[in-house]
Amino acid sequence: MSVAKRVVVTGVAGFIGSNLADAMLAAGHRVVGIDNLSYGVREQIPVGVDFRHVDIRNPGLAAHFDGADAIFHLAAKNCILDCQDDPLETADVNVTGTVNVFEAARRAGVNRIIYAESSSLYEGVNVFPTPEGAVAPESFYAVSKAAGMLFAEAYRRFAGMRTTGLRYFCVYGPRQDYRRSIPPVMSAFMLKLLRGERPAIYGSGDKRRDFVYVDDVNDFHLRCLDDPRTEGNVYNIGSGTNHSVAEIYRKIASLLDSQIEPEIRPDLPGEAQTTLADISAARKIGWNPSADMDEGLRRSIDFIKQHVLEAAV
Ligand SMILES: NC(=O)c1ccc[n+]([C@@H]2O[C@H](COP(=O)([O-])OP(=O)(O)OC[C@H]3O[C@@H](n4cnc5c(N)ncnc54)[C@H](O)[C@@H]3O)[C@@H](O)[C@H]2O)c1
Repeated sequence: MSVAKRVVVTGVAGFIGSNLADAMLAAGHRVVGIDNLSYGVREQIPVGVDFRHVDIRNPGLAAHFDGADAIFHLAAKNCILDCQDDPLETADVNVTGTVNVFEAARRAGVNRIIYAESSSLYEGVNVFPTPEGAVAPESFYAVSKAAGMLFAEAYRRFAGMRTTGLRYFCVYGPRQDYRRSIPPVMSAFMLKLLRGERPAIYGSGDKRRDFVYVDDVNDFHLRCLDDPRTEGNVYNIGSGTNHSVAEIYRKIASLLDSQIEPEIRPDLPGEAQTTLADISAARKIGWNPSADMDEGLRRSIDFIKQHVLEAAV
């Protein structure tokens, strides 16, 4: 185990942030967690996290970073459809908020920041598997992530920040967002099938997505703390394989022993046909995402059964 560190996680009440906090605590690190609970839920914050209910746009943010060895900046407005509806708030949280996190880090004397980018940066790129090179953001969400990335690069260049940008593909696992009107595809299928309702497939079901399990993602997060080769770089965080939405439907239906057929609805605007990560850069530093998808799906189903459906009874 590496030497115990003090890490800050923004977005700690969300899906990836709460799982990251669990992994950091399990590795013996101390975790300060920041969230404004605009979206995440308090019950998701792991016991042991020193939680601060604060917005990343708060002018006094630096006080929460004192003594930190590293900051994981994950807080964001991140549902593509919500961002399309409100570009102003999207820019406020994802751009101004991100700059405030970097500026607060500089004031607090913390120069290690690992921050969330997104595979949506590749919305207009048609190279598969997609390497980290060219980006072509299109939606308001993706453009806001691109702006955050450019500010991170400027902080690296002019303020000596040791940055790592993580371009998550479709991360799945327990606590994946189940609260949106249209949740991510796996949660959406699980929720509906567990309730005995017909899930919707938007479009034909042949869209392909690169899904990566949250424990594999945490393995990379931990490497970012310990491996200086990750500094100054951006990485695709996917599995390097993809599955069609229809395949995922069949897998989840079979795990739940359900015969319910999905309802086909018109395509959602702005959805990519294919995502597939070229993960050779992350592999070079020893990362090997290896989660078994059926097992990952079972754990996700168990979470929804225990924390969403039973809690609602
Ligand atoms: N989940 C994925 O598959 C995925 C894919 C690509 C990129 N990402 C990025 O990874 C990061 C984490 O994603 P997630 O799936 O855990 O999202 P999430 O919505 O579950 O968590 C985000 C958290 O940020 C908090 N937050 C939002 N605005 C805030 C603000 N102004 N101040 C403080 N806290 C605020 C929310 O309350 C929430 O708890 C995001 O930056 C997202 O854009 C996620």
